[in-house]
This record gives sequence, C-alpha cells and structure tokens, in this order.
Amino acid sequence: MRMKGVILAGGLGKRLHPLTKITNKHLLPVYCKPMIYYPIQTLVDAGIEDILIVTGGNHAGEFLRLLGNGAGFGLKHINYTYQEGEGGIAEALGLAKHFADNYRIVVILGDNIVEKSISKAVDEFRKQPKGAKILLKKVEDPARFGVAELREGKIVSIEEKPKRPKSNYAVTGIHMYDTQVFEIIKSLRPSKRGELEITDVNNRYLEKGELTYSILNGWWTDSGTFDSLLRANNLVAKNAEKGKIQKAKCKI
Ligand code: G1P
Repeated sequence: MRMKGVILAGGLGKRLHPLTKITNKHLLPVYCKPMIYYPIQTLVDAGIEDILIVTGGNHAGEFLRLLGNGAGFGLKHINYTYQEGEGGIAEALGLAKHFADNYRIVVILGDNIVEKSISKAVDEFRKQPKGAKILLKKVEDPARFGVAELREGKIVSIEEKPKRPKSNYAVTGIHMYDTQVFEIIKSLRPSKRGELEITDVNNRYLEKGELTYSILNGWWTDSGTFDSLLRANNLVAKNAEKGKIQKAKCKI
C-alpha cells in the first residue's frame, strides 16, 4: 500500500529565540545538516516517496532554496504548503488533506530526530485494517511531552504535558493515520494554549479502539528547546564519530 509523508515544519520557534529570530527552527544546524534533513531522510528510508512539507512563519521561502525538488534525497519532487499563524500541530496537519487524497499518511514533526529506521512500524501500519498508529519512547522527562498510559500492553489514555505523568512513555512526533484524520481535525476545539492538539487527534482514535503503538528503536529526541537542540547535536555527532552516519551523507 502506497503511503504519503507529511513533515510539519511551521511555527515561530519561540522557545529558541533569538536563534529563530532570523530563520525557521527547522533550518538550524544539527551536527552537519539542517534539522529538516533528518525527518526527510527518515521518511525516505521508510520507503515514502511523496512528501509534503508544511512550513509557516517569515522564512518559509528558504525551504525551497535549501531543498528544491529533493533530488539530494533521491526524490523526484517535494510538495510545500504554508500555515498561516500558529494554530498548532493538528491544524498544520489539516492543511495536508488535499495532498493526502485518499492515501494513508506518515506524519513527522520537523524537529524530531531518530537514530534508527521506522520501516518496521510503517510496514505494520500498512497491514493494520484502519485507524492510527503512534510511536512511543521511554524518556526521563515525560512531563515535556504527550504521555501514554499503558495497561496490559494497550494504551488507555494520552495526556498532553501532564504535571503528574502516568508513565515514562512519551508520544514521539511520529504518527500514522488513515483518511479519517481529516474529519477528526475538523471537529477539534483549541486547547488551553489556543492550538489544535495532536494529542486530541490520537485520543479520538483511542476512543474508537483504533489506536495502536510501537516502541521506537534507538534514540529519539526533539530539538525545539536549547537543551534538546544541544542533545540532538551531541547524539548525531556521537554516531558520526562511531562511523554510524557516513560522512558522505552530510553532503546532501
Ligand atoms: C508536541 C506534541 C507532544 C509530543 C511532542 C513530540 O509537543 O504536542 O504531544 O510529545 O511534540 O516532540 P511540542 O513540541 O509542541 O511542545
């Protein structure tokens, strides 16, 4: 089953000011490449060839200058769209409806960097009759993320940035959805921070009994704060030292 990929790379990156005053967060360096290269490569490695990048803010044009048609990634074409304002991750995803058409999608946040391939989870989702699949990762600071409560191997709740997390399993920024996702997004109401939350989307699938998960292999990090950006740089640099990331790959 052919699936399409959506990379969410909008927002104003306020948590990284002043680094993001004159550029978009996803264009900042992570070791030898701009941040956005990593999620693109993750999708390409999982066999996804149709990719949409949702950008926003004042520096959206730079993505086109940097990535062009994606030839450096072996792609024939990259699609772009623009999010006005800061309506949240789910709102940004809603802009992908036209692109997704009737295909299932793999969504990845532009600031999420993973060490290993997500192919296995993507292939499992291809076989799932319907619904959604999310990728979880055990972390030490779950209160920063969406947190999944697991009971007998099943997700029973997801809370966005809970003060008292019910587990150490963070909801990473990698999600897979069937075409119902766009109807769900339309029915969402903004959260307290004034955004349409991806956690609310996942909870709708959970209520329907159509949400599955996998635990991500290898390390995972976001890179939207000073500490996590530094962490992302260090993790990638360490792998490069070990020869795990070929130097040539820096030249994309
Ligand atoms: C977002 C999501 C959160 C998720 C995180 C992963 O948080 O709202 O559920 O765990 O991405 O990176 P944000 O980066 O918007 O704070």
